[in-house]
Amino acid sequence: MTPYVLVLYYSRHGATESMARKIALGVERQGIEARLRTVAPISDNLSDHAPAVPESGAPYASLADLEHCSGLAMGSPTRFGNMAGALKYFLDSSSGLWLKAALCDKPACVFTSTSSLHGGQESTLLSMMLPLLHHGMVLCGLPYDEPALHRTKTGGSPYGVTHWAVEQDTPLSEDEVELCIAQGKRLAMLATKLGSVV
Ligand SMILES: Cc1cc2nc3c(=O)[nH]c(=O)nc-3n(C[C@H](O)[C@H](O)[C@H](O)COP(=O)(O)O)c2cc1C
Repeated sequence: MTPYVLVLYYSRHGATESMARKIALGVERQGIEARLRTVAPISDNLSDHAPAVPESGAPYASLADLEHCSGLAMGSPTRFGNMAGALKYFLDSSSGLWLKAALCDKPACVFTSTSSLHGGQESTLLSMMLPLLHHGMVLCGLPYDEPALHRTKTGGSPYGVTHWAVEQDTPLSEDEVELCIAQGKRLAMLATKLGSVV
C-alpha cells in the first residue's frame, strides 16, 4: 500500500475544507500522498439521514483510513470552543484502534476555523489534541521560524494552523495559506523522520 498522510476534517460551510486542501498540498510537496477524508454530519433528528456517499467534496473516512495512515492532520470548525460533534463522533468509534495501539508513535496536527478571532481557536486546538494523545500520537504544531506566524493579522497559532472566517465565505488569507502548507510539510517530514512512512 502506498503510504499516505490522512487529512481528516469536518466542514459545514467550506472554510475548514479549504484549510484541509492546503494542508494536503503541503503534505504532497514533501513527496507523500495526502488522503483527504471527511466525516458524516450528525443530527439529533432521527429522520435526518446523511447520504451514504457525500454529495460533494472528499469521501467519508473509514477506520481503516485512520488505522493505516503514516500521519494525521485533523480539522474541525470551532463549536463553542471545541471540535464539532461529527468529528468527535467519528473519534469515539476508534476504541478498537486504541486497543491495538494502531496510531501509537505516528505524528499528528490539528487545525480549526472560527468566525471570531478570540472565540476559542486555541481551546479547540488543544482539546482536539486530547483524544490523539490517548492514541499515543506525537503532536506537532507550528514553530516560530515560520515567518507568517510572526506576520499574521488573521489566523495562525503555534498550536496548529487556524483560519479566521469573518464571513462564511472569507477566503484564507495569504498568511493562513502559507501556514497550512507549512503545517502539511512539517507533518509529512516528521512522518518520515519518525519512521511511520513504510
Ligand atoms: C453551533 C456553532 C457553534 C460555534 N461556535 C463558535 C465559537 O465558539 N467560536 C467562534 O469563533 N465561532 C464559532 N462558530 C462559527 C464557526 O466556527 C465558523 O463559522 C467556522 O468558520 C465554520 O467552519 P466551516 O466553514 O468549515 O463549517 C460556531 C458555529 C456553530 C454552528
